[in-house]
Amino acid sequence: MARIKMVAGNWKMNKTLQEGVALATQLKEDVKNPSCAVVIGTPFIHLATVAELLKDSPIRLAAENCADKEKGAFTGEVSAEMVKSTGAEYCILGHSERRAYYHEDYEILKNKVELALANGLKVIFCIGEVKEEREAGKQNEVVKAQLEGSVFHLSAEQWKNITLAYEPVWAIGTGLTATPAQAQDMHAYLRSLVADKFGAAAAEDTTILYGGSCNEKNAAELFACPDIDGGLIGGAALVAEKFEAIIAAR
Ligand code: 13P
Repeated sequence: MARIKMVAGNWKMNKTLQEGVALATQLKEDVKNPSCAVVIGTPFIHLATVAELLKDSPIRLAAENCADKEKGAFTGEVSAEMVKSTGAEYCILGHSERRAYYHEDYEILKNKVELALANGLKVIFCIGEVKEEREAGKQNEVVKAQLEGSVFHLSAEQWKNITLAYEPVWAIGTGLTATPAQAQDMHAYLRSLVADKFGAAAAEDTTILYGGSCNEKNAAELFACPDIDGGLIGGAALVAEKFEAIIAAR
């Protein structure tokens, strides 16, 4: 099995329902035969409508989060089961914004990953170091701990539904992209960790995305690296032309 190449968008907290429907409609119109998997991650409130809209499109749909509890008295939360019921197929988990602003630690993320998988969702699991950690040369130990803390306990069977996204925090929304060499080094390291844990074949099949100021100008150079299988795109995913140019670069 050759590993899946992918371009995924993460809309974050952007777009009203109407704006989101307009963007998804344009993407559906323009992206009919992509040469890679295409996923858009939207706010919860868009999911059901956009899932319906994308029914006969190759574009897949992701939630940007799910609850760490199964169900019940958790006001304002959205469970993995609810996400699945909208027609979404993926869930983005472990994003640095959620780790930093909503205090999602390894244990919380472990619960979320398990619930997402148990409900038949695929997980795009984000990892990455902050600037100070990179400057101290600690990026490898940081991402290793993030994997060990939340996803390396999974079974080999469960692992098949995990896509990794390396998102150095210092590169997110800053215009400061990791160089292709920095990203490739990290992706190769991540793949080696997956190989140690799940074996060489599983590592070879694991899709590892790069995220952090990836745009229509730098995508081709990043995607040319052997261990960079695609991108998780923030800002540039909010503009159809830019996102489509990134898909074309993959
Ligand atoms: P930007 O592409 O805006 O830097 O965001 C990347 C990201 O966080 C995707 O999840």
